Amino acid sequence: MDKINAIREKIGACDDIIIEQLAIRMGHIQEIIAYKKATGIPILQPEQEKKQTAALEAKLGDNEFEEEILDIFKYIVKNSRRIQAKSLFDYNIFLIGFMGAGKSTVAGELKAKLEMDRVEMDQMIVEKQGMSISEIFDEYGEAYFRNLESNTLIELQKRKQTIVSCGGGVVMREENQDHMKKNGRIVLLTAKPETIYERVKDSTDRPILNGNMNVEFISELMEKRRARYEEVADVTVATDGKNVTQICEEIISKLIKLDNTSEEE
Ligand code: S3P
Repeated sequence: MDKINAIREKIGACDDIIIEQLAIRMGHIQEIIAYKKATGIPILQPEQEKKQTAALEAKLGDNEFEEEILDIFKYIVKNSRRIQAKSLFDYNIFLIGFMGAGKSTVAGELKAKLEMDRVEMDQMIVEKQGMSISEIFDEYGEAYFRNLESNTLIELQKRKQTIVSCGGGVVMREENQDHMKKNGRIVLLTAKPETIYERVKDSTDRPILNGNMNVEFISELMEKRRARYEEVADVTVATDGKNVTQICEEIISKLIKLDNTSEEE
């Protein structure tokens, strides 16, 4: 029994060292973010992460626990991203824009890159109602659906550091803007009608486009909504011809710039 207690004590001493070193490491992560923020260099640096993994693998060489230690480092890096996001964005990020502007895809990528939470407004509504968006429109009409959207936004005010992919029509109600701005920033994603058409043409769960699946209709509706989208947006990113990583980097740098200027004021 004495022997096992002695081993446990040694493990406890290792834990103390790990905790101390992890806290030091996380402090350095905060320093890096502060540096990136102040100098404006890109926040996301996938190449650097790859280099770091290669360096780790080299260090571990033929270590008996290579696999396990590499697994632990995955969590360390994941949590570094979380620390990064916490110090960058202490608010919710609302992605708005026309159907097919890329809100869901970008939300998924931002979640992975920043380790923030992510929600799909449409999905929240579908789950709560137990009906598809098309069924809600058919059975209760658009005004009812818009009420559900406003209620969802009010619910989301309780959350922090969440990326919210909004339904395309959410900004058309004036009150929704206030719900979003309470603890969030609004990011508008744009795309040309032709690009939108290519992205949504096979979709069947967008009642607004049922029977209207053509560039002309998309273009007209977009024009009707354009002023409203632009009015509520804190930052705007055009998505045509860009890949999702470029779009995410642009969103992050524009938000940081916005926050830096509002801090200066
Ligand atoms: C709508 C957009 C849809 C969905 C609903 C209405 C709109 O969301 O909320 O069909 O009015 O633009 P997506 O933009 O995610 O397709």
